[in-house]
Amino acid sequence: MRQHGCAAVAALAISANAASISRRTASLDDVCTVSNVQAVLPSNGTLLGINLIPSAVTASAVYNSSADSAGGMGMGMGGSSTANYPYCNVTVTYTHPGKNDEVVIKYAFPQPSDFKNRFYVAGGGGYSLSSTATGGLQYGAAGGATSAGYDAFTQSYDDVVLYGNGSINWDATHMFGYQALGEMTILGKALTSSFYGLSSSAKVYTYYEGCSDGGREGMSQVQRWGEEYDGVIAGAPAFRYAQQQVNHVFSSVVEQTLDYYPPPCALNKIVNATIAACDPLDGRTDGVVSRTDLCMLQFNLSSIIGESYYCAGQESTSLGFGFSNGGGATKCQAGGAQGSTSSYQPEQNGTVTAQDVAVAQAIYDGLHNSEGQRAYLSWQIASDFGDAATTWSNNTNSWELDIPSTGGEFVTKFVQLVNVTNLDNLDNVTYDTLVEWMDIAYNRYLDSLQTTLPDLTPFQTSGGKLLHYHGESDSSVPAASSVHYWQSVRSIMYSNVSSDASIEALEDWYQLYLVPGAAHCGTNTLQPGPYPENNMNIMIDWVENGVKPSRLNATVSSGANAGETQMLCQWPTRPLWNGNSTDFECVNDQASIDTWTYTFPAFKVPIY
Ligand SMILES: *[C@@H]1O[C@H](CO)[C@@H](O)[C@H](O)[C@H]1NC(C)=O
Ligand SMILES: *[C@@H]1O[C@H](CO)[C@@H](O)[C@H](O)[C@H]1NC(C)=O
Ligand SMILES: *[C@@H]1O[C@H](CO)[C@@H](O)[C@H](O)[C@H]1NC(C)=O
Ligand SMILES: *[C@@H]1O[C@H](CO)[C@@H](O)[C@H](O)[C@H]1NC(C)=O
Ligand SMILES: *[C@@H]1O[C@H](CO)[C@@H](O)[C@H](O)[C@H]1NC(C)=O
Ligand SMILES: *[C@@H]1O[C@H](CO)[C@@H](O)[C@H](O)[C@H]1NC(C)=O
Ligand SMILES: *[C@@H]1O[C@H](CO)[C@@H](O)[C@H](O)[C@H]1NC(C)=O
Ligand SMILES: *[C@@H]1O[C@H](CO)[C@@H](O)[C@H](O)[C@H]1NC(C)=O
Ligand SMILES: *[C@@H]1O[C@H](CO)[C@@H](O)[C@H](O)[C@H]1NC(C)=O
Ligand SMILES: *[C@@H]1O[C@H](CO)[C@@H](O)[C@H](O)[C@H]1NC(C)=O
Ligand SMILES: *[C@@H]1O[C@H](CO)[C@@H](O)[C@H](O)[C@H]1NC(C)=O
Ligand SMILES: *[C@@H]1O[C@H](CO)[C@@H](O)[C@H](O)[C@H]1NC(C)=O
Repeated sequence: MRQHGCAAVAALAISANAASISRRTASLDDVCTVSNVQAVLPSNGTLLGINLIPSAVTASAVYNSSADSAGGMGMGMGGSSTANYPYCNVTVTYTHPGKNDEVVIKYAFPQPSDFKNRFYVAGGGGYSLSSTATGGLQYGAAGGATSAGYDAFTQSYDDVVLYGNGSINWDATHMFGYQALGEMTILGKALTSSFYGLSSSAKVYTYYEGCSDGGREGMSQVQRWGEEYDGVIAGAPAFRYAQQQVNHVFSSVVEQTLDYYPPPCALNKIVNATIAACDPLDGRTDGVVSRTDLCMLQFNLSSIIGESYYCAGQESTSLGFGFSNGGGATKCQAGGAQGSTSSYQPEQNGTVTAQDVAVAQAIYDGLHNSEGQRAYLSWQIASDFGDAATTWSNNTNSWELDIPSTGGEFVTKFVQLVNVTNLDNLDNVTYDTLVEWMDIAYNRYLDSLQTTLPDLTPFQTSGGKLLHYHGESDSSVPAASSVHYWQSVRSIMYSNVSSDASIEALEDWYQLYLVPGAAHCGTNTLQPGPYPENNMNIMIDWVENGVKPSRLNATVSSGANAGETQMLCQWPTRPLWNGNSTDFECVNDQASIDTWTYTFPAFKVPIY
């Protein structure tokens, strides 16, 4: 489905033709009618692969309804607003020629006086696309959300991925993978243009914003429909899907392989002690490990052995690990480590043992096959061990294996192709088994979910801007996963220029920022660090006014430095604080960069 060669040259100014003037001054009630929308539907054959069904159009003005925040999933993308924005609530239905399927799209068109020639697409999370179309209203943007042909508004993709055992729903897979959003955007831009009576040369600035699977969805659009988007903000993308999702059972396999199931409190203690030890390495003692690379190079987890820990007993419901650390994980959080639903934990009072540290070290080291070849990267040191959470058994009075359903469900449904929501056990599962599962999933979903195509030329040549960010202490989608993609894009697109020249060329349109201390798509209760809250405004300024960022504006939201602005360093530079002051520099440090650089010889093919 990759679209070649249809890049439209960006028209810089909006020509004020008669139609647009009259539409601009029209009231919402005037324009928001079924017949008006029917009149502007692209006719069959205009948009290849999309046949609209005029009789199915609905349109009604919505007043006094709170617009959803950006992204619709509250995934730390900022910009959430409770203000009211009147809009035209439109649904259109289309079919793919000859297929007799039905895709319903909701569009939200701001009232004409608010419209700023923008179209906005929000990402979802977990196995869901965004189900709300209103995230762009605060920016004067029209927006959309799609049913993707499998009723994505009410059904999660993992619930429909199998027709039955052994039988993959490829339509749903490709629609979820990238196609549904691409079609929604192409159609949405055409509708937006004609709904407001813009001249055919008028630009509709098109934005995407999402985190976690929403970040993956954003990357899918950059990779597949690059010409359609002007600005894409992708947070912690849950891409490199085969490796990423299988990796969610890696921590459990470490425990089984070492035949040791650590008390959760011991692992929490290891994380806390690591944070305490590595916090000052970045030059400021503020509770945040801004340089996990220095921590990796200079800190030895073994030094924690013998430290005591204590956690009170608890009768708890779900432990929502991994997602914004304590921020309530739900089924849908893809990248999110979950499945840790132990209902009871006894009081834990002990000291960290060599076995506890061995589990922690093996997890941070990442997956290798039995020949010692690396298969995947891991979470940065000082990230919590969400996937490693064990569960207490009253029967055996001991801690036992608890397989995170994020990874377990991926293996059962997507690799083994059985309609089962988690692995029952890890009998006979070794590190080599994980590599095999990754290999199967890689080959099977290379064209749909893997989402790591590294040649972004159509996006780049049509002027697209990509803002990519990732919490450095993300315990669900490893931060190094983002760095590896950035490196892949750089080496594929700039293979014949020097490293410095390629970095300079790349930052004109693709910038990556690691967010010190941050968890998966949000702040981290264990490290009171900064988080970017202003990304859309920065992106709009970049796209529409040519203001290229060089650092990323982020705000500390808790702890002693709450309210502090930190202008984050753009990868590959790294922050170094100047003696506890409020100043840090962005330094080049090759030894640090090297700790983020991986190859994956366990696979015979390149892993981008
Ligand atoms: C376009 O095709 C769809 C489905 O094939 C059909 O229902 C619709 O009436 C067609 N539209 C027009 C304007 O003919
Ligand atoms: C919206 O709310 C305002 C204030 O409550 C009210 O005056 C106005 O009539 C409402 N508009 C509609 C269309 O309901
Ligand atoms: C938008 O329109 C659809 C289709 O008529 C309807 O189901 C939905 O409730 C409407 N949304 C709002 C917020 O009014
Ligand atoms: C898969 O299993 C669930 C729960 O047992 C069931 O509701 C669903 O219908 C099954 N789906 C298929 C495609 O067999
Ligand atoms: C780790 O630190 C957090 C937050 O500072 C605290 O709530 C928790 O009790 C600590 N855990 C252990 C095991 O010390
Ligand atoms: C960490 O310390 C232990 C115990 O002193 C030692 O065996 C191990 O080699 C050290 N690890 C590294 C990476 O230096
Ligand atoms: C933990 O155990 C030690 C040694 O048994 C004891 O001294 C200490 O009071 C215990 N701590 C708590 C909080 O129960
Ligand atoms: C396990 O035992 C504890 C303490 O006796 C009790 O509070 C808890 O409810 C039990 N849990 C289960 C699942 O039986
Ligand atoms: C699908 O496979 C699972 C696991 O083997 C099995 O439990 C289930 O009964 C199968 N479902 C059907 C409809 O055969
Ligand atoms: C595990 O491997 C053993 C030995 O090869 C075999 O007998 C057993 O059936 C296997 N168990 C499972 C669940 O595959
Ligand atoms: C950073 O963003 C905040 C809004 O989140 C804004 O108030 C502030 O002026 C920005 N600072 C800089 C230096 O851009
Ligand atoms: C920063 O402050 C901490 C105490 O808050 C102190 O231990 C440390 O030495 C200071 N570091 C520098 C570089 O001044």
